Amino acid sequence: MLPKINPTTTQAWILLKKHYQEEMSQTQMKNLFSKSPDRFNQFSLKLDDILFDYSKNIITDKTINLLLALAEECQLKPAIEAMFTGDKINETENRSVLHTALRNFSGKPVLSDGKDVMGDVNRVLQQMKAFAEKIHSGAWTGYSGKKIKYIVNIGIGGSDLGPVMVTEALKPYWVEGIQPYFVSNVDGTQIAETLKKVTPEETLFLIASKTFTTQETMTNAHTARDWFLKSAEDEAHVAKHFVALSTNETEVKKFGIDPANMFEFWDWVGGRYSLWSAIGLSIVLSVGYNNFESLLKGAYKTDEHFRTTAFKENIPVIMALVGLWYTNFFGTQTEAILPYDQYLHRFSAYFQQGNMESNGKSVDRKGDEVSYSTGPVIWGEPGTNGQHAFYQLIHQGTVIIPADFIAPAISHNPIGDHHQKLLSNFFAQTEALMNGKSEQTVIEELEAQGKSAEEIKKIAPFKVFEGNRPTNSILVKEITPETLGSLIALYEHKIFVQGVIWNIFSFDQWGVELGKQLAGKILPELKDDQSVSAHDSSTNGLINAYKSLRN
Ligand code: F6P
Repeated sequence: MLPKINPTTTQAWILLKKHYQEEMSQTQMKNLFSKSPDRFNQFSLKLDDILFDYSKNIITDKTINLLLALAEECQLKPAIEAMFTGDKINETENRSVLHTALRNFSGKPVLSDGKDVMGDVNRVLQQMKAFAEKIHSGAWTGYSGKKIKYIVNIGIGGSDLGPVMVTEALKPYWVEGIQPYFVSNVDGTQIAETLKKVTPEETLFLIASKTFTTQETMTNAHTARDWFLKSAEDEAHVAKHFVALSTNETEVKKFGIDPANMFEFWDWVGGRYSLWSAIGLSIVLSVGYNNFESLLKGAYKTDEHFRTTAFKENIPVIMALVGLWYTNFFGTQTEAILPYDQYLHRFSAYFQQGNMESNGKSVDRKGDEVSYSTGPVIWGEPGTNGQHAFYQLIHQGTVIIPADFIAPAISHNPIGDHHQKLLSNFFAQTEALMNGKSEQTVIEELEAQGKSAEEIKKIAPFKVFEGNRPTNSILVKEITPETLGSLIALYEHKIFVQGVIWNIFSFDQWGVELGKQLAGKILPELKDDQSVSAHDSSTNGLINAYKSLRN
């Protein structure tokens, strides 16, 4: 069980509030840098090839010490152990939270319900490995004897975003001759467009669904099956072309997939934490098992770091505390994740689900409404595209948006000076966001351009940058499977730490249920052309307008 402590009642929270009001709300980061030339060393941490620089934040030693005290008072240490040791910390679903067991290379058992889960974990990993070898070698062929060329993963949310993000991030490692596709949306367009690119004889469909009941996934899966059978004409051929990644054997059988072609995982793997499980089969097929294992090993390295390192040097703990500092004391509401690496173009989308589905909660672990902010809105796009789209607001808007900048030192595509240009932008942006540009500098620049005093007076206010906009910089050597694994796990644990301190349950997602229920009620109403009147006037009006527009 996790502790149930209202963070606002802790001594540390009260002191942090005072510290913010009396000392930090007006503090300028650039002054902190000029006072302490060693600030970079003081506020940066390393985990192997990952450098985490959090010096460009509105923090002092005192801030960090108070935040660390908050973590202690909220009993973070026992909470971490509770997660790693299989306590049922997902209380509202009565489940352990053991994605860390999926990448446990310690050789030690991990218990859930008194049973060591490692036997099952390793069995499925071996099954994935053996299966991928058969696909890659051509030992497993389609119904007409042709080699499998196309992988279509059909899943949504956690059964899609993780595999998409990782396969895109690891494109340089793709196995030759395999092309993965991902279908998630119930909008028929996505499956239709995907099926145009593949052939029934050479395609393997992975039906990825923890529950195997998700409407979008099952609809797409049936469409894919019908499309396949139109060519294959024999139900017996389905076994060669459809496999299931799921926890639900009964539903898998009902769909017509032989349990021998099912890759199992368990209820203690949360959907948005499932890329490390059988849900990662599309990753294994795309980049090979060894690279998948390196991904797991990278995550394991972070797990060990998180579990054993003092909080002061613990990267996910510090990431979480600094984020919380802005959310709860500066009143920020969003955080940007800005990868300066095109291959990481789905990284922010992935953690949008990771973070917002986990910590988008307003009821605490006692069942009471919280009186403080919890999970921020997460968003972002790769640099430098974002610079030409939304950075204007980050630099000169009225809200503070803490941002994480992520970049590799080595590019997989070292063409000319592209990478140096990319990184010069990365460094320049965080510097600009921190320092801003004073009115004095603006005036001097305009004078140097020969502008008149009158012109300068008119234009100068618009060219001033307040600065003092916080950023973290995460610089890695190269985006390898191992580094990526470590990086993902850092963010996962950041989310966990924040959830513990906010006293919320991070591993359920009841908030997605209501919409699903209502859609279930509305669907039959759309089958005929009769006018509806059972809803509010807006919903009735929209449904009736749809019915007349479609005819
Ligand atoms: O959006 C709700 C959710 O339950 C996610 O948590 C999950 O990742 C997604 O739906 C897909 O669920 P499933 O894997 O059971 O199809």
